[in-house]
Amino acid sequence: MINIQPFGTMPDGQPVTVYQLTNGNGMRIDCLSLGAIIQRWILPDERDIVLGFDSVEAYLADNAYMGTVVGRYANRIAKGQLTVGAQHFQLPQNLGAHCLHGGTDGFHHRLWQVHIIDDSDQPSIQFSLTSPDGDQGFPGTLQASVTYHLDNDNRLSITYRGQCDKDTVFNPTQHSYFNLAGHDSGSVLDTRLQVMADHYTPADADNIPLGDLRDVTGTPFDLRQPQGLHDKVHSTHAEIRAAGGLDHNWCVNGALLSERAVRHAATAWHDASQTALRVETDMPGLQVYTGNFIGAEPLGKSRCHYQPFHGFCLETQYFPDSPNNNNFPSALLKAGKSFCSQTVYQILFSGND
Ligand code: GLA
Repeated sequence: MINIQPFGTMPDGQPVTVYQLTNGNGMRIDCLSLGAIIQRWILPDERDIVLGFDSVEAYLADNAYMGTVVGRYANRIAKGQLTVGAQHFQLPQNLGAHCLHGGTDGFHHRLWQVHIIDDSDQPSIQFSLTSPDGDQGFPGTLQASVTYHLDNDNRLSITYRGQCDKDTVFNPTQHSYFNLAGHDSGSVLDTRLQVMADHYTPADADNIPLGDLRDVTGTPFDLRQPQGLHDKVHSTHAEIRAAGGLDHNWCVNGALLSERAVRHAATAWHDASQTALRVETDMPGLQVYTGNFIGAEPLGKSRCHYQPFHGFCLETQYFPDSPNNNNFPSALLKAGKSFCSQTVYQILFSGND
């Protein structure tokens, strides 16, 4: 079922609403019309496993993208330089010289239209917006939507759709910070993580991909067997030190095949609570981010002081800077064509899957 409540007000007076999706097991996910944000993910034992804020003001002040849908292009585009066909576009340089997460005013701070699709015990809700031609420098008027569907297998299935009247690029993701012990329980470094990837995209000191796909064998990026996050984050590997932890893109096995299919990308385990999070996606990339830059301000839910490593993100997406790397899977969306992509986050309680 879906319960609807007021959440707050935008600076221009428009209301922000929270939609509480509850399944037949008593699992509840609260989503906001602001940023299509996942504000709470409450397990039947009342643990809330995502970081977030209690007010619109805090979400607008946040620059960690907590719980938001990111667009038009998740992750980095080098120097904000985008070429589509023969045309060149300059995007905002909001991370040093580079464009991050769709520019200064990306989708994460927008008010989305909301449509309830299914109000049953396996609820479904759609968020949509129109991004005008030239929005943050990107070409074409883009119609974008995100559907959240919570089922009785404790799966949140996310469907991203897009259509544009000009050739453009589109690369949305969900930027939830998970802490399977509870958002207010401190470090996630006791989490074990498995990533189904034989390759990752090595990057320079600005975290811009070098352009090759590198074999993970013999490197700290080999997560094919579950690994504790503590050791990974404290690795002396130059790329991990440069990022202050994990903030890297893995190439999901099978994703380079021409057939598009939803594949197992990663599983995270919190052993003490026997809770696991399994991620499946049809996107080729998975950015694993261990919350290296989380700041204490604004204060989190229930006045919680979040710190670095208090949450981890598993962001499904095209590879970073794919528009400037012809050997990466392409995020090009041709005029009039439909983009549709699926990512599933599933909670498992056995501790094993
Ligand atoms: C992504 C990026 C990180 C950081 C966060 C937001 O995960 O890869 O470098 O910018 O978003 O703080």
